[in-house]
Amino acid sequence: MTNQLVLKLAESPEEIQFLYDTRTHPEVNSSLYGSPPANFEQHRNYLAKVQGISRWIYVAYSHSQEKIGYSQIYDVKESQLEVGFAIHPLFQGKGYGSEIVSATVAQAKKEFRNRKIILSVLTTNHRAIHIYKKLGFCERTVQESSLLMELS
Ligand SMILES: CC(C)(COP(=O)(O)OP(=O)(O)OC[C@H]1O[C@@H](n2cnc3c(N)ncnc32)[C@H](O)[C@@H]1OP(=O)(O)O)[C@@H](O)C(=O)NCCC(=O)NCCS
Repeated sequence: MTNQLVLKLAESPEEIQFLYDTRTHPEVNSSLYGSPPANFEQHRNYLAKVQGISRWIYVAYSHSQEKIGYSQIYDVKESQLEVGFAIHPLFQGKGYGSEIVSATVAQAKKEFRNRKIILSVLTTNHRAIHIYKKLGFCERTVQESSLLMELS
């Protein structure tokens, strides 16, 4: 697959706003774990605390420089790291989901060598699971409504 997305660490006010708009969008929020930030201020403060320290949160740009989604690398331990993804609903269903997973995995391998790459996904999220399997993630364990997958 040709990878046309460019990942950039979220830094600028526009990127931080885009993350907030995507994370709090009902169609995205309903597929993710936990609650979205209560307000923009909380989101911005959280990002300032974790960005590049315990989480690496990227905005994905299309080749026409549009912000289309975000991904993150977190829980980086000696032997493993976890990844997560969201495409803004305006851009879903166009193939960007597969591209953002590929780009983030490539980024994770480049930045953090020799780590096991895992992710958690709701068992009802068939679209995401389809993409993860297509790109080489295997099912590991299921706990309640959550499926743990690992890149083989
Ligand atoms: C999951 C998500 C990243 C996928 O992005 P997307 O742009 O919609 O996905 P794509 O267009 O790249 O690909 C969708 C693929 O899933 C398939 N698909 C769509 N609906 C499906 C379903 N109900 N069951 C199985 N496969 C499905 C499509 O046929 C397509 O397959 P293909 O790539 O083999 O042709 C995006 O929908 C999203 O951000 N959702 C909300 C947040 C989320 O779920 N994040 C992941 C949490 S772990």
